[in-house]
Amino acid sequence: MAYLLGLDISTTGAKALIIDEGGHVIASHTTPQPISTPKPLWSEQNPSDWWDGIVAAIREALKSAGATGDDIACIGLTGQMHGLVLLDESGNVLRPAILWNDQRTQAQCDQMTETIGFERLIQLTGNRALTGFTAPKILWVREHEPEVYARASHMLLPKDYIRYKLTGEYAMDMAEASGTSLLDVANRRWSMEVVNALDIPESWLPRLVEGPEITGVIHAEAAELTGLKAGTPVVGGGGDQAAGAVGVGAVKAGIIGLVVGTSGVVFAPLEQYRFEPEGRLHAFCHSVPGMWHFMGVMLSAAGSLQWFRDTVAPDKSFDALIEEAKSVPPGSEGLFFMPYLTGERTPHPDPLARGAFIGLTVRHTLGHMTRAVLEGVAFGLKDSFRLMEAAGLPAGQMQIRASGGGVRSRLWQQILADVIGAPLVTTSTTEGAAYGAALLAAVGAGIYPDVASACAATIQTGEPAQPAQPEAYERPYEIYQTLYPTLRETFMRL
Ligand code: XUL
Repeated sequence: MAYLLGLDISTTGAKALIIDEGGHVIASHTTPQPISTPKPLWSEQNPSDWWDGIVAAIREALKSAGATGDDIACIGLTGQMHGLVLLDESGNVLRPAILWNDQRTQAQCDQMTETIGFERLIQLTGNRALTGFTAPKILWVREHEPEVYARASHMLLPKDYIRYKLTGEYAMDMAEASGTSLLDVANRRWSMEVVNALDIPESWLPRLVEGPEITGVIHAEAAELTGLKAGTPVVGGGGDQAAGAVGVGAVKAGIIGLVVGTSGVVFAPLEQYRFEPEGRLHAFCHSVPGMWHFMGVMLSAAGSLQWFRDTVAPDKSFDALIEEAKSVPPGSEGLFFMPYLTGERTPHPDPLARGAFIGLTVRHTLGHMTRAVLEGVAFGLKDSFRLMEAAGLPAGQMQIRASGGGVRSRLWQQILADVIGAPLVTTSTTEGAAYGAALLAAVGAGIYPDVASACAATIQTGEPAQPAQPEAYERPYEIYQTLYPTLRETFMRL
């Protein structure tokens, strides 16, 4: 039986996952990745660390699968989105990659909005200019490091740099390209109107491909280093969110992906291109050819609980902490938590938004505070469902496939089902984006005719968490919605 390899260049690790044709996980290895913040708001990694990390991960995964390169039929790539990798004419990296969570480019975002116009930019690219996206990073390099800019000949995203190292090809899939601010998302091609308005050389842009499309084959040097076989095909793959959606089967209208990881993501597949006129939801191409998706991104979801535990109750396990929240009634007796610990994207695209507990009294215990954190994150995610509903998509009536560390807690699952007002199911694998990338490779290898068939054959869903008392959250959610508008001015002054 053939194996498929999914490679994930995430912010925290370079992961190699091997599955078989039936979708069973055979082996997985992750090499942790360092991250550097040389200045406040900056976030960078060295592409050479990704390469060293993924080479080691591939070798280890092959070893623990008891496999050789001959067993791998096809390879799929995924990774952290939006990060800028600049290469010279010969493919040498010119500076550390500027990552998705780097916040240095507000001035360049303002400049983009002014040059192209707020509405036109959203019409063309499906999105407003956001500090995390790629194009403003290019403008930043031009302004602040002109000597680097002058030597640049290619721009890639993190996983596409790994593609280049493996196959020598400069290519990028549509889902990832959607997060550059340079793609004509409706027509699945570079937006020359935006590229020319920003004066970015067209020759820098890689070839665009679909997720399951073969983009090249492993070359001899990469084969030697990794243990893979020269000539093994590599498919387009997708950014971590689109590939993660494939990994849970959110590949057709009616199924929503919900990720409660460090960040929180609501991912709704679309059969036709749509955009939200104010750009509060991302509108991107899906890794499924001919499909798009809406996406709401909350920056601190399980990250809020992690911060809370580490800061307030570092000696407690997550299980013990959550246990105390169980007996607290819905609404936490008037206590609210605003989860904007690292600013926010959806529904408030505001890097200056801040976290807060509102409504503390002497009655409130650690259990109340924990529950308020779980509820605050659920309210923030519900905001994305509401925006999708306002854009004409009945998101709250669809099947929700939940993944990420946060949904390991049954209580949090229940709170999410109650707040959103819809059943939540989890899926059989917890391998996330790498699993989706491996399924895209299975389609590329011809094992399945399309992405939906690959998902149907490999992904099983568990018992749903049904909403039990959705009405108990109606009033608290109404109050929650008033908090950000009330405090926005204060956050700015802070
Ligand atoms: C998506 C996004 C994150 C990063 C890092 O828009 O910014 O999902 O890809 O995981």
